[in-house]
Amino acid sequence: MGNQSEVRKNFGERASDYRLSTTHSNPVDLERMISLLIPHPNAIALDVATGGGHTAIALAGCVKKVVAIDITPEMLAEAEVAAKQSGLKNIVFQMADVQHLNFTDGQFDIVASRFAAHHFFDINKAVHEMCRVLKPGGKFYILDCSVFDGDETEKEINRIEYLRDSSHRCSYSPRQWNHILNKLPLTLKQTSLLREQYKLPQWFDRMGTDRKNQKEIFQILYNLSEDSKTLYPFGDDYITTYRYEILAIKT
Ligand SMILES: C[S@@+](CC[C@H](N)C(=O)[O-])C[C@H]1O[C@@H](n2cnc3c(N)ncnc32)[C@H](O)[C@@H]1O
Repeated sequence: MGNQSEVRKNFGERASDYRLSTTHSNPVDLERMISLLIPHPNAIALDVATGGGHTAIALAGCVKKVVAIDITPEMLAEAEVAAKQSGLKNIVFQMADVQHLNFTDGQFDIVASRFAAHHFFDINKAVHEMCRVLKPGGKFYILDCSVFDGDETEKEINRIEYLRDSSHRCSYSPRQWNHILNKLPLTLKQTSLLREQYKLPQWFDRMGTDRKNQKEIFQILYNLSEDSKTLYPFGDDYITTYRYEILAIKT
């Protein structure tokens, strides 16, 4: 069954926080996604793991129709509230697991997913499904938390993420993403590793990370090698993190 119940529990308890999150609704990120995708007005898009609906709503303003899926019912309810507030009527919400998509092959012009792949229990199955439902020539977009290439960062930063959120599965480094996507009929058009800072305690609060785990997270950061510490500066009120953005075309 994987981590579905953990995901549903962790997100279900905090669904409205994700709808209201300024990190997830950041217009700079959403505009960059649109400028990379250059959506056609007649396009049909799939938003995988819609969360508070930010990706679906940004896409819906530019395409004919968006299908937005998620496995957490409370999240879908919040996304529907956000869609209603936006006044957009071309989004259909469905409960579905990315690893078992109930769509025919090649149904979508765009398949996008933001801030979610690190939760997918079987990433290979998830991206295989996302790619299967995309038309040849269709656009595949992912933005997700990531880690710097390297054994230490891949292991230790993921330990931090797991201590913060027990439904965290893996933030993949660029080299790991390349390995995952290489197996699929996709041509990479653009990839970027983006450095970010998360404000504390907001980053902890969004997932209800307890004091014990917060302490352990700082201990891991203090114990990083000097090289990793320069990549991951931190303070009492912030933590450094990376995101990986991928645009690919289905061949
Ligand atoms: C941080 S939220 C997504 C944010 C959203 N995409 C945005 O752009 O603001 C992560 C979402 O992933 C969903 N999720 C996790 N695993 C999933 C899976 N296997 N299939 C579908 N949704 C999943 C969770 O329920 C949660 O709503």
